[in-house]
Amino acid sequence: MALSTEQALALLLILNSTHLTAADCPPLDRVAVSGSAGGRAVLPCSYTPTPGQDVAVTWYAYPDQGGPVLLIKSKTPSAPIPAQWSGRVKLSDEVSSGNASLLISELRLEDTRDYMCDVWINGICVTHRNVKLTVQACSAPDYVAVSGSAGGRAVLPCSYTPTPGQDVAVRWYAYPDQGGPVLLIESKTPSAPIPAQWSGRVKLSDEVSSGNGSLLISELRLEDTGDYTCDMWTNGICVTHRNVNLTVEGKYNKHVLVGPPKRDSATSRTTTTTTPTTRPSATPTTRPSATQKTSPCPTQQGNAAAQRRSYCMKTL
Ligand SMILES: *[C@@H]1O[C@H](CO)[C@@H](O)[C@H](O)[C@H]1NC(C)=O
Ligand SMILES: *[C@@H]1O[C@H](CO)[C@@H](O)[C@H](O)[C@H]1NC(C)=O
Ligand SMILES: *[C@@H]1O[C@H](CO)[C@@H](O)[C@H](O)[C@H]1NC(C)=O
Repeated sequence: MALSTEQALALLLILNSTHLTAADCPPLDRVAVSGSAGGRAVLPCSYTPTPGQDVAVTWYAYPDQGGPVLLIKSKTPSAPIPAQWSGRVKLSDEVSSGNASLLISELRLEDTRDYMCDVWINGICVTHRNVKLTVQACSAPDYVAVSGSAGGRAVLPCSYTPTPGQDVAVRWYAYPDQGGPVLLIESKTPSAPIPAQWSGRVKLSDEVSSGNGSLLISELRLEDTGDYTCDMWTNGICVTHRNVNLTVEGKYNKHVLVGPPKRDSATSRTTTTTTPTTRPSATPTTRPSATQKTSPCPTQQGNAAAQRRSYCMKTL
């Protein structure tokens, strides 16, 4: 059967394009990798090298719509890369020794998608792999503990070193006793209302644009004790994710500290008639801050320690 030039051309195009989409490749294998926004990810791909062979590695990305787009090709390393990945993707330096991995840096949320690696040796497709990349919104949090005294102030540290021209934003969240996190303050909307407990007492560093995202809390209250979360973003990508555990310790006025509070003494006298060694120490005056909200008084009364605990709670 004779083909017209047009038909032949069409057939050639079909053959060519099926070649391109790797119909001659081994079955697709699938791998999943994940990374954090701002970080980097290695999309693994490999083959078994033998000396003298002609190797061609091709990586594709699957956009939200449409077929795969060519990302990078080992044979034409200087070919333009689609804008989304421009300047951020790089083939392994060890392609000739079998490492055909793709390195994506400065990960963005929108890099979350499927990628495909094809390796051709002497015109035969030997590796055909799908890599599913998931980019998480932020890195896993790091933890910092900060303490302060009631009535004083505390700086909750959070920072990032931006490169010049980057747009830096910071958000702080607090965790009230009930319910999930609440937004405390956000650098982009400085005049937004602040939850009542902290209203008028929290302030962001003046140097957010240069990467200091610390939060200043003044006139500390015992109930400010708890967890706070800082997220910093540059150009819309979360780069710092930190958990600050703030502990506010009770600090008593010097006049009160001259002796045990009067009610303490009274309770002490009534409870120490049978255990003369029980005495109010520094502990009862500082302990209430940590226990008053959560710990009921112990019910058992049988030894001096239990009585001391009981005494301690009751003086609240
Ligand atoms: C392949 O190359 C990537 C990028 O350079 C590297 O991170 C990875 O460890 C290499 N893999 C192997 C198996 O050597
Ligand atoms: C960040 O800002 C806070 C609050 O203004 C300040 O106390 C702290 O020293 C600053 N940190 C750095 C590293 O400049
Ligand atoms: C915060 O610190 C306090 C006191 O050290 C501790 O009891 C509490 O479990 C910590 N919270 C978290 C979430 O780590």
